[in-house]
Amino acid sequence: MPSFTVFKGSKDGSIKKSQTSKPELKGDQVQLKVTASGLCGTDLHYREGDMVLGHEGVGIIEAVGPDVKYMKKGDRVGWGYEHDSCGHCKECLTGAETYCPDRQMYGEADLDQGSFAHGAVWREAFLFPIPDGLSDAAAAPLQCGGATVFNALYTNGIKPTETVGIMGVGGLGHLAIQFASKMGCDVVVLSGSDRKKDEALKLGAKEFIATKDKKELSVPRKLDRLLVTTSAQPEWEKLIPILAPRATIHPISIAGGNFEIPYMPLVLNGLRVQGSVVAARAVHQQMLEFAALHKIEPIMEKFPMTEKGIAEAMEKLNNGQMRYRGVLIPE
Ligand SMILES: NC(=O)c1ccc[n+]([C@@H]2O[C@H](COP(=O)([O-])OP(=O)(O)OC[C@H]3O[C@@H](n4cnc5c(N)ncnc54)[C@H](OP(=O)(O)O)[C@@H]3O)[C@@H](O)[C@H]2O)c1
Ligand SMILES: [Zn+2]
Ligand SMILES: [Zn+2]
Repeated sequence: MPSFTVFKGSKDGSIKKSQTSKPELKGDQVQLKVTASGLCGTDLHYREGDMVLGHEGVGIIEAVGPDVKYMKKGDRVGWGYEHDSCGHCKECLTGAETYCPDRQMYGEADLDQGSFAHGAVWREAFLFPIPDGLSDAAAAPLQCGGATVFNALYTNGIKPTETVGIMGVGGLGHLAIQFASKMGCDVVVLSGSDRKKDEALKLGAKEFIATKDKKELSVPRKLDRLLVTTSAQPEWEKLIPILAPRATIHPISIAGGNFEIPYMPLVLNGLRVQGSVVAARAVHQQMLEFAALHKIEPIMEKFPMTEKGIAEAMEKLNNGQMRYRGVLIPE
């Protein structure tokens, strides 16, 4: 019976070490040893939950179930936010299983395991081979953060001729700058302050706009697309004047409240709003190959995967001090 150490949230927000045991492997289940995990902004929302945290996992396969076909012991694989789906609804059949009504996702299903752990058991069908060019640590933040921003851009028809705004230079944002830039786009970064300017430009941005305390925003070239990766919703009305006609807004933030935007500018400028979650599997795998090919990697701060290490990393992320993705390494 597979049994492994896991790290859970708790009512007072402290991190608790625990043990999970699973039944013998069945069907296409794979048992793996975790070698790295990213820490995503969404994990902060579950810190007070009685559940194993983490959904940006990378590991090495240790054992395979009776129906595993494509993967074998020793393979390096990653997994992310979605663990399973029904496999036969319209969304599943059209390669959009992230919107399956029976999707099994982090925070809702399989609460006894996650990537803040020494091991896990997942279906082969929801694991992703890691391309050779990517280290375990670098591949971990791509499993949610990378997949989410690549998906928003790629599945919604981005073109290399577009001017793309990336708002928020955090774990997601600093990967989005790299993806959009390597897709050939003119990247404009919108960030709270000037603090991240040099790094944003190095990552591929052509322009950098500090937004805080500005009554009105201006950009040298209006945005055809705006990806919002801030941890809270922005003031949408401030962003309207910097959007090109027929621009698409991609709200990615997990945040409360309603989406409030001035109505007539939306109608008269033919603006589009496109919500999205992480990536379906086909896009997730393409994202990994694209990242390896173009040497897109997170800028990382590493922490030991211990109660103390996880708490420290979460504190740093919560205080806005992380540059730019925390990665936990099991000891
Ligand atoms: N839709 C999805 O499927 C999906 C998937 C993954 C994550 N998410 C969500 O995406 C968001 C970003 O995640 P992340 O891991 O990149 O987080 P992160 O590393 O904390 O980055 C968020 C960035 O937002 C800005 N920010 C921080 N506090 C803010 C505040 N109070 N108001 C406005 N902006 C603030 C900062 O950028 P600047 O300093 O540049 O302003 C910060 O670096 C989170 O809400 C997360 O839950 C959604
Ligand atoms: Zn995430
Ligand atoms: Zn389905």
